[in-house]
Amino acid sequence: MTAGLRRIPAIQGLTMTLRQPSMLAVMGIPPTADQAQAPAIHVQGLEKSYKQLRVLRGVDLDVARGSIVALLGSNGAGKTTLVKILSTLLRADAGTARVNGFDVATQAAGVRESISLTGQFAAVDEILSGRENLVLVARLRHVKDPGAIADDLLRRFSLTEAGPRRVATYSGGMRRRLDIAMSLIGDPPVVFLDEPTTGLDPEARIEVWHAVRELAEGGTTVLLTTQYLDEAEQLADRIAILHQGRIIVNGTLTELRQLLPPAEAEYVQRQPSLEDVFLAVVGQPSKQ
Ligand SMILES: Nc1ncnc2c1ncn2[C@@H]1O[C@H](COP(=O)(O)OP(=O)(O)OP(=O)(O)O)[C@@H](O)[C@H]1O
Ligand SMILES: [Mg+2]
Repeated sequence: MTAGLRRIPAIQGLTMTLRQPSMLAVMGIPPTADQAQAPAIHVQGLEKSYKQLRVLRGVDLDVARGSIVALLGSNGAGKTTLVKILSTLLRADAGTARVNGFDVATQAAGVRESISLTGQFAAVDEILSGRENLVLVARLRHVKDPGAIADDLLRRFSLTEAGPRRVATYSGGMRRRLDIAMSLIGDPPVVFLDEPTTGLDPEARIEVWHAVRELAEGGTTVLLTTQYLDEAEQLADRIAILHQGRIIVNGTLTELRQLLPPAEAEYVQRQPSLEDVFLAVVGQPSKQ
C-alpha cells in the first residue's frame, strides 16, 4: 500500500467529516439514521480474485463502533486485499461491504470521508519537522487552526518535545506514531492500520500500542491487520482470523481460548521470554 494513497480525503479536497451532515448533504450523501446506528464496518460474502487466484472467498465480518478488531492471517491470506476493498482502493468481485453505513461500491465518497488508512510504511516527510508534517496535512484537509490541531496531536502522541525536530532524526516508533497522528486529522471515525508495528523493535511496538489504545478510548473504530499474535492479544477487543479466503474464527480472546481444551494445571518454572529480558535490560519505553 503506498503512502500517498492514505491521503485520499486530502487529495480529493474532501475535508469534512461525517459529523458535518450539511457537507454530506451537499455531496448528495446525507447519513441516514440507519447508517448512524449501523456497525462501523459490515462485510458480507465478500469475494476477490486476482485472475485465477481466489484470495477472498466469502468474507463476513462486523466491527462494532469504538472497538479495536485485529485481523490475523499469514502472509498472503488477503488482509491487505480486504483493507483495500474497505477503503475503496479496490473493487470486490462479489458481496457487500459498508463502512460507517456507506456502501464501498456505490457510496465511495461517503466511505472516504469516514476513514483513514495507514499503510505499512510511514508516510511522513523526512525533511520537515514532525509539527510541520502535521500542519501540512491539516492545511490540505482545510481543518480550522492547523497549528492548534498539530500541537494537540503532538501532545496526544507524546511527541511534543520532538515536534520541532526534523523527522529524519526520529526513531522508527516515533515516525509510526507521527504517521498515525497524521491520519487522524479531520477525526475520521474509522481507522485502518495495515501492520502498524511490522519491523519495529519491542519498545517502539509498545509505543504504537499506546497510541492505538488512545484512539479507541476516544471512540474511534480501529481495524488493524497483524501477524503478531501478542499484538492482537494486547490490543484487540475482538480477533478475526482470515484463512483460505474466509474468516474462520471471530471472537474475544476469552472466546478464542475456549476453542481449545481447558488448560491443565502444571507446575513449571516459567522462564522469562526474550521480550521480558529485552524490556528489563533497556528499561520501560521512553516516549521521546
Ligand atoms: N495486485 C495483485 N495482483 C495479483 N496478485 C495479488 C495482487 N495483490 C495481492 N495479490 C496476491 O493476493 C494474495 C493476498 O495478498 P494480500 O496482500 O492481500 O495478503 P496479506 O494477507 O496482506 O499478506 P501479508 O501478510 O504478506 O501482507 C497474495 O497471494 C498476493 O500475492
Ligand atoms: Mg498485507
